[in-house]
Amino acid sequence: MRWRWEETGKATDSIHGHMFEDEVTGAFIPPIFLSAMFEQRGETRLTDRGTELKYSREENPTTRALERILAKLEGGGDALAFNSGMAAISATILALAKHDTTLLIPMEVYGTTMELAMTLSDKIGYKLELAWPDTESLIESIESRKPDVVFVESMTNPMLRVIDVEEISKTCFDIGCWVVVDNTFTTPILLNPLKKGALIVLHSLTKYIAGHNDVVGGAIVSISPMVKLLWDWRRMLGSIMQPFEAYLTLRGVKTLNVRVERASTTAKTIAEFLEDHPRVEEVYYPGLNSNPYKRVADKVFERKLYGSMISFKVKGGRDEAVKVLKTVKLIKPSPSLGGPESLITYPIISASRALPEEVRRKLGITENLLRLSVGLEDPEDLINDLSQALQ
Ligand SMILES: Cc1ncc(COP(=O)(O)O)c(C=O)c1O
Repeated sequence: MRWRWEETGKATDSIHGHMFEDEVTGAFIPPIFLSAMFEQRGETRLTDRGTELKYSREENPTTRALERILAKLEGGGDALAFNSGMAAISATILALAKHDTTLLIPMEVYGTTMELAMTLSDKIGYKLELAWPDTESLIESIESRKPDVVFVESMTNPMLRVIDVEEISKTCFDIGCWVVVDNTFTTPILLNPLKKGALIVLHSLTKYIAGHNDVVGGAIVSISPMVKLLWDWRRMLGSIMQPFEAYLTLRGVKTLNVRVERASTTAKTIAEFLEDHPRVEEVYYPGLNSNPYKRVADKVFERKLYGSMISFKVKGGRDEAVKVLKTVKLIKPSPSLGGPESLITYPIISASRALPEEVRRKLGITENLLRLSVGLEDPEDLINDLSQALQ
């Protein structure tokens, strides 16, 4: 194996950033190292980051190849791949929170993240502060409550409010608190939170990065000393991504750039179609001129793309929303996002299920709200499917 570092663009990084080459065979696609352990004769082999390569709960060369790509894509010192997004989030909170820590999170976060933050707060005793999920309110809450750690999602789920990670990081820098950003919805193609001042960036690789609706995985990217700390947590929790999943993710990430471009373009067309539809009450998509978060998106996103998540309210209530779920044909009613197959989700029974009802209502997560993950199908076929379902 040979390693080389070069300054290249994101599309190139996602293809070549693993820096794997086998000098014996000339293979340049990382193989699946289905080996639970590695030889230890007196001395242990070291990985390129200096950790011991002896046991696949700690390090595996296929997983490591993926981590090098993730570190490059996010512009971080190093990365760790986990067996789910929640495993990455668990390790992060466990590593950062002590009994006297104050953790601030917006009240609109992925439901299981909220459940985890509350459960660990009960166990460890740290103080959990909830804030309204927009940049101004988050800044006010940070200034008044002086947390040690702030955890935000770059785009909230399911209302798709874009958070100004740069402004949050500046405020946190002034009071000495750490910023953790879940960048799952925006991907490193639209946003690199570390370059905007965050300390740790997290991903559910299950979504855009693996990108094919066939892998569950997670990752963190950060500066090298923080990755070292989290490496120990991953080792103790036993939550490393396994080599077969890492191989599939390596294969998926190669097309991340073109997938995000294509899906974002289709999503804008669909958002415009929905906005004009007589059976649609409201559309939430940060690429629409009518969307209050477009200004933030234009400021923080690196490209004039707004992602491929759209939320919308059908006119009526639960019955009308469920009717759409029952009558879509091409679009699959299912949780998750970021794959080639377009998916439609009912937030009140999936991602937002864990939120108390009055919080959900306050956030606008009503019974007629649906969330669409736009995939890679022909845009006109998706529009036809939505058209017939909305009739
Ligand atoms: C924003 C976000 N973060 C984290 C997760 C958890 O990821 P995983 O399902 O891979 O554990 C999800 C899952 O839907 C998510 O939407």
